[in-house]
Amino acid sequence: MTAPAITAEHLARAFGPTKALVDVSLDVAAGSVCALLGRNGAGKTTTVRILTTLLPAEGGRAQVAGFDVASQAALVRTRIGVTGQTATMDELLTGAENLETIGRFCHLGAAISRRRTGELLEQFDLVGASRQLVKRYSGGMRRRLDLAASLIHHPEVLFLDEPTTGLDPVGRAEMWTSIRSLVSGGTTVLLTTQYLDEADRLADTIVVIDRGLVVAEGTPEQLKASIGRPFIRVTLTEADPAALEQVGRLLGEGAEVSGRSVSAPASDGLASLDQVVVWLRDLGVPVHEVGLEHPSLDEVFSTVTDHSHHPGVHSASAGGRGA
Ligand SMILES: Nc1ncnc2c1ncn2[C@@H]1O[C@H](COP(=O)(O)OP(=O)(O)OP(=O)(O)O)[C@@H](O)[C@H]1O
Ligand SMILES: [Mg+2]
Repeated sequence: MTAPAITAEHLARAFGPTKALVDVSLDVAAGSVCALLGRNGAGKTTTVRILTTLLPAEGGRAQVAGFDVASQAALVRTRIGVTGQTATMDELLTGAENLETIGRFCHLGAAISRRRTGELLEQFDLVGASRQLVKRYSGGMRRRLDLAASLIHHPEVLFLDEPTTGLDPVGRAEMWTSIRSLVSGGTTVLLTTQYLDEADRLADTIVVIDRGLVVAEGTPEQLKASIGRPFIRVTLTEADPAALEQVGRLLGEGAEVSGRSVSAPASDGLASLDQVVVWLRDLGVPVHEVGLEHPSLDEVFSTVTDHSHHPGVHSASAGGRGA
């Protein structure tokens, strides 16, 4: 078992009367991707700022790459890369000039900064734009340049605060590819996102936060499983009411008809599906499709965060780790 690259225990932080973080704990294994998922104001950026030594916590503690973020902040900084939620490039420099400047800030020296700049421009498909001023870059190019800049000193742990917000679908897909290739090279990534599909596609583990509290956590599969059983959906070739009713009876308790489909909980998962396929063959109704479906992460998200009228939900749903 690999040592965690990030460990946070009971982080708390307020801004005046606003409790940005109430109690956030998380562990991220080295070489894995953790998605911190939450709505606007959930506390994602505050968590990232504490873990990247930019903001002191008022409660709890955290270690990144083996060092304490409060007492060993300088050591933490040498081992991490950070891409903030808003771009930080100098608009009046070119992409290449920005990267070289950042390299020298990181004490890489002029020659190494230039070499790393060349490598990163290549890696992020920015060679053609490298001599253009950043103010002429598109949103996607800026994001790629930001990511390149955060990698200039080969960080062990990378923090990406909403890396794809504001990107078009092509830009998002490109960013996902870049993140995946970093991870295959061994970098640990903690990214924040408001997008479930992003967390589902990129992350090994997901921590859902809401109002400064962890409300669910686990692998994407665990989160989906914790929210409900899979169900079987049978779609007929046409919406024949008599046939739909027969299929509904066959699927048993909880069967619901919608259009030309009938769905019902699959208490035994694949075994239930097997059984249903056999029964359908005997029944002889014209079936277009039959399959097992899992609840989506969207359902997980809305279930665990929609608690405005259920103040007890935090303790009730915080058991994702053991699920
Ligand atoms: N410097 C600050 N001063 C005052 N309040 C702050 C400050 N930073 C954050 N907050 C408040 O703390 C809460 C959490 O903010 P945070 O930026 O961590 O949320 P977030 O999950 O990153 O949201 P978003 O998705 O909008 O980026 C919010 O209510 C926010 O208004
Ligand atoms: Mg934020």
